[in-house]
Amino acid sequence: MTIIRAIGISALTSAMLVSGSTFAANVIEGQRIYNQHCIGCHGPGGHSAIPNAPHFSRGERLMQPDMMLLATIKSGKIMMPSFAGILRDQEILDVIAYLRTLQR
Ligand code: HEC
Repeated sequence: MTIIRAIGISALTSAMLVSGSTFAANVIEGQRIYNQHCIGCHGPGGHSAIPNAPHFSRGERLMQPDMMLLATIKSGKIMMPSFAGILRDQEILDVIAYLRTLQR
């Protein structure tokens, strides 16, 4: 009985790990997307290229939860265009994970 329960739990745990990896953010993919869609304004390595764009290299605007950043990137903000319909949520979360690596 104990053995069966142990097997049941380990199967459940591996199923969770497998599905968990689908949702985990991919920083390398995030960097690729950043260099394609964001670098023009936010600059190489997050050193802002235009006035008013936050410097992610200084961690600017990143003191908020991923879900809030996701919402803002999807909706756009003042000079920043909306990325809804251009990037999938998972792709935006990958970029956010990359932004969080830029602070020096
Ligand atoms: C056309 C220029 C432009 C592009 C392209 C752009 N941004 Fe922005 N972004 C801005 C500007 C300007 C702001 C500051 C908006 C404000 O508060 O005035 C901003 C703000 C932000 C913020 C801070 C939001 C907040 O809470 O204040 C995040 C995060 C962000 N951008 C991420 C991204 C990501 C990720 C991409 C690429 C997918 C991207 N931006 C592409 C110009 C741009």
